[in-house]
Amino acid sequence: LHIVHVTAEMAPIAKVGGLGDVVTGLAKAAQARGHEVAVMLPFYECLPTDQIEGLKHEADVEVPKGYRWDGEMRVGSLRTSVFWGRVQGCPVFLLRPAAGTNSNIFRGGRIYGGSYNEMEAYLYFCRACLEYLRASNQHPHVLQLHDWHSAAAALLFWEAYNPGAAWSRTRVMLTIHNMDNTGECRQDEFSFSGLPGEAFATIDKALDERTIGHNPERLNLMKGGIVYSNAVTTVSPTYANEVLNGGAAGWLRSTFARPELRSKFHGILNGIDTEEWDPATDPLLPANYDAERPQGKALCKKFLQQGLGLSVDPRKPLVAVVSRLVPQKGIHLIQAALHRTLEAGGQFVLLGSGHSDGVFRGLAEGKLRNHPDCSLKIMYSERLAHLIYAAADVVVVPSMFEPCGLTQMIALRYGAVPVVRRTGGLADTVFDVEAAAAPPAGAARNGFVFDGSDEGSLYGALDRALALYDKQPGRWAALSQDNMRLDVSWAKSAGSYVDIYRSVAVA
Ligand code: ADP
Ligand code: GLC
Repeated sequence: LHIVHVTAEMAPIAKVGGLGDVVTGLAKAAQARGHEVAVMLPFYECLPTDQIEGLKHEADVEVPKGYRWDGEMRVGSLRTSVFWGRVQGCPVFLLRPAAGTNSNIFRGGRIYGGSYNEMEAYLYFCRACLEYLRASNQHPHVLQLHDWHSAAAALLFWEAYNPGAAWSRTRVMLTIHNMDNTGECRQDEFSFSGLPGEAFATIDKALDERTIGHNPERLNLMKGGIVYSNAVTTVSPTYANEVLNGGAAGWLRSTFARPELRSKFHGILNGIDTEEWDPATDPLLPANYDAERPQGKALCKKFLQQGLGLSVDPRKPLVAVVSRLVPQKGIHLIQAALHRTLEAGGQFVLLGSGHSDGVFRGLAEGKLRNHPDCSLKIMYSERLAHLIYAAADVVVVPSMFEPCGLTQMIALRYGAVPVVRRTGGLADTVFDVEAAAAPPAGAARNGFVFDGSDEGSLYGALDRALALYDKQPGRWAALSQDNMRLDVSWAKSAGSYVDIYRSVAVA
């Protein structure tokens, strides 16, 4: 099959969170199964082009696009340059406005939050991807869209290209990584996609109830993607259930009540890229290790303790959090874990950033500055992340909701023990070592799990983890080694994606 991903992120060149990891991991896994895979990504100004093999200019295309003109939207076009290269062996198309067009789209020093209007930029990106595929006569079996940034490509595909002979084999699927941000756009903004204003009414009708409860003037792009795609997936079975039957759908609750949409919705658990995340070969570690030769893990711990200026002590439990710092991640519980760990005589390391990082910045610059057992790094660093997973005894993931979560799986692979809140994909990947109920077939008891969203619930699980570490070092070491052996790869899930590709693909 020929599969093309349309995405705002791709690890390692354009990664903010797990979305980037998943696109690269899944693309490589499908490629390894013999499928032809490519990724389409905005050519953000900040991309590290030295990490793109064989980067070259491929073509220029005129992309239909709306502009504001005398207070009105008019449709014109924007000349777009398409580049091609490979990232970890996977072909990538990179798109941006051509030099000399004076557009600021995708400019600025970061992936999101540049100086451009995001809604305009991603609507244009969706249109540009389709326009380039049409112009270059590429007719993939499946266009796989990710989150709201590329969801509009589903609407545009069926409404603007009205797939005729050439496109007749192409089908569209949407993968929802997070329902927290669904992309709402005003009617006038929608013309940035190059569709004339009249198209809005047609789409509105197809969406049936475009209003999402609180704002009747806006079109919800994720909803558009759901309605217009041939299949819709999300990134774990439990989150799929929370979307269909719990509160996770938010304003799109009525959308997910529609039987025809429910039946094309599937939860497939993410994997991690086990080549990228492999303690046995990881070039970023001072010592490599695996379940059979676990000694290197202690060296990694010592190296991190020294590097961060912590007291060097192999017996202190090292508790870590690596996370975007946003409300989803349970900020108050991360704080609680920090204080509880220090009270219990352990060490706490945090690596993260995001709009809720203020409280940790305050602690890092104030009370906990130069603390011998606590290091709070408010930044993004791939290298430090690898070192932390390798050094950590415990990784805490106390999310309020979590569509899948990758950090608990990376933790397992690196022989750390996860302490998680039972929600979304965390519930599908971490099973309490002390639970009476057996884990599902093929899974193992591998961590500590709690249910509530208050500090007391977190303490219950964290205290049990610290007690096991302290009192039963032999059992702890065995648990750490067993965790390294668990299969957290894409092996199984890539197969589930291919089943969905096949179920929608036209023979
Ligand atoms: P989300 O996608 O919601 O952020 P995931 O658990 O799916 O959560 O994925 C997070 C990914 O981002 C992991 O690979 C994690 O290691 C990485 N990550 C998060 N914060 C940082 C950071 N500050 N520095 C380096 N990597 C980070
Ligand atoms: C999102 C979710 C996270 C998931 C990731 C990759 O950012 O917050 O839970 O693991 O996407 O699918």
